[in-house]
Amino acid sequence: MGVSDRWWISRAVICLLIIPRINGWGKDGHYVICKIAENYLTEDALAAVKALLPDHAEGDLADVCSWPDEVRRNPHYRWSSPLHYVDTPDFRCNYQYSRDCHDSAGRKHRCVTGAIYNYTAQIMPVPHKSHLSVVKYNLTEALMFLSHFIGDVHQPLHVGFTGDEGGNTIVVRWYRRKTNLHHVWDNMIIESALKTFYNSDLTTMIQSIQRNITEAFVELSTQKNCKGAVCPNPYASESVNLACKFAYRNATPGTTLGDDYFLSRLPVVEDRLAQAGVRLAALLNSIFSVHKSIAEE
Ligand SMILES: *[C@@H]1O[C@H](CO)[C@@H](O)[C@H](O)[C@H]1NC(C)=O
Ligand SMILES: *[C@@H]1O[C@H](CO)[C@@H](O)[C@H](O)[C@H]1NC(C)=O
Ligand SMILES: *[C@@H]1O[C@H](CO)[C@@H](O)[C@H](O)[C@H]1NC(C)=O
Repeated sequence: MGVSDRWWISRAVICLLIIPRINGWGKDGHYVICKIAENYLTEDALAAVKALLPDHAEGDLADVCSWPDEVRRNPHYRWSSPLHYVDTPDFRCNYQYSRDCHDSAGRKHRCVTGAIYNYTAQIMPVPHKSHLSVVKYNLTEALMFLSHFIGDVHQPLHVGFTGDEGGNTIVVRWYRRKTNLHHVWDNMIIESALKTFYNSDLTTMIQSIQRNITEAFVELSTQKNCKGAVCPNPYASESVNLACKFAYRNATPGTTLGDDYFLSRLPVVEDRLAQAGVRLAALLNSIFSVHKSIAEE
């Protein structure tokens, strides 16, 4: 291997270490969540969602659930970058909206839970009379942001500690690969599960998660502390709890994570994907049932 090869490889490794902050759950995670959500949409919600989707999605919400990650580095959308996560004080293992939901410049509401309120309010219908005074948002984008951020708020390390940027600065090995803890939770656990248990087939993995979703699971997931249509705060609290119990535990800088970590954390990941999916569906159902009742007035 020549010197310039090595140079390129080390550059590539540096990029791999830096880029992960760009992603929420990886592309697969968001796809799984939105596919699950589609199965629980009411007819009305499904029709409303399809009407808002861009043409290239061909009626499939899951197809565009990673869109906010794709545009995040684009200068026109750089403002959206802090909306993918919320950082909490180091080692406290709790989350509070008023304390934690701000960007690094301290601007209030600029975090994942604030964004969920924002985009829910945008696609929520408003009474006829006030239509004229309402700012026109791009509702296609609002739907894609909302679906994506409901996913992100369920990734435990999207509600991680400020000091390590939600695990981004914790360099670990995933088996033999050098990566960081945030990336392990966004991508590697899912990737390894696909290879080890699902024949590298995402559809098989989705079906398997789906089989675990009972009526009781749906009820428990969607009614928890939730007043009104949208309640991202309890989801964020669950995430930071799971971050402390499972993500950070036994994953200090320099650790090699292998079978023990993988096999004990995979059920947590699968559970979060399932919860995010059914909760996204419940939220969209609630938003678009209000829509219908107003349209019928
Ligand atoms: C709310 O949505 C608008 C339109 O995308 C965006 O400009 C604004 O920054 C968002 N604010 C928050 C807190 O999410
Ligand atoms: C709304 O956003 C989508 C996705 O960015 C874009 O393709 C579309 O042109 C936008 N619509 C309007 C009316 O600006
Ligand atoms: C299904 O649920 C069981 C029991 O909670 C859990 O151990 C398993 O990992 C779950 N499987 C999937 C694919 O979600």
